[in-house]
Amino acid sequence: MPELSDLRPRLALALDVDDQVEAMRLARELRAWFAVAKVGLELFGAAGPEGVAQLLDEGYKVFLDLKLHDIPTTVGRCARVLGALGVSYLTAHAAGGAAMLRAATDGLAEGAAAAGLEAPGVLAVTILTSDAGAPPHVLGKRVATAVEARCAGFVCAAADVAEAKQLAPSLLAVVPGIRPLGIPSHDQARPATPAEALAAGADLLVVGRAVTAAADRTAAADRLVAELAGAGAGA
Ligand code: C5P
Repeated sequence: MPELSDLRPRLALALDVDDQVEAMRLARELRAWFAVAKVGLELFGAAGPEGVAQLLDEGYKVFLDLKLHDIPTTVGRCARVLGALGVSYLTAHAAGGAAMLRAATDGLAEGAAAAGLEAPGVLAVTILTSDAGAPPHVLGKRVATAVEARCAGFVCAAADVAEAKQLAPSLLAVVPGIRPLGIPSHDQARPATPAEALAAGADLLVVGRAVTAAADRTAAADRLVAELAGAGAGA
């Protein structure tokens, strides 16, 4: 049976709150289950680089989910700034094209090098769950764009992982929309259980409200890990 220590690096805690004090409360409480903290637009808008620094001090790897999408020059310059923060991952929209993603990977690497840090990876966002009208060929096209731009990985729904991994077996598959059995799907259009996501080939599971909105968060985190361990994850 896999240990929590095997699973923890594969679990990212989505800190979708607008207040750093609340984010740090969640981060400290759930530190034993999650090695990665995901900071989105909401929290970065509220707490910025200082908020990221606090999570790094707490021992988390930081996944900066800012979903960049602009002209390559602007994305590259922004990524250069963010690369110096010490984050491990940054998201950018694959729909922005290969030149834009490449600007993000180059910018991140430059910013990190200037700060004496290891280069973080760009994660290409494939299809937003809110984009119900995306035609089927779009997934493959966006994963191919991520490969071309030398991204570290891609973000997709659990249902899309198998197809995406066929095209890009060496890239990290990052999957949100995780709902353990019996947990409401909230606004997630294509949720999967943790076990389903892992079975599909997910490398990193992004977990938010299934744990953060639970009445007993540590019990919910325990159940999540038990469900994964029972499914043989990390074995
Ligand atoms: O639903 P949950 O709270 O687990 O959300 C975790 C992450 O999933 C969010 O931080 C967001 O980036 C992503 N998400 C998504 N589609 C939605 C809602 C959230 O991909 N409809």
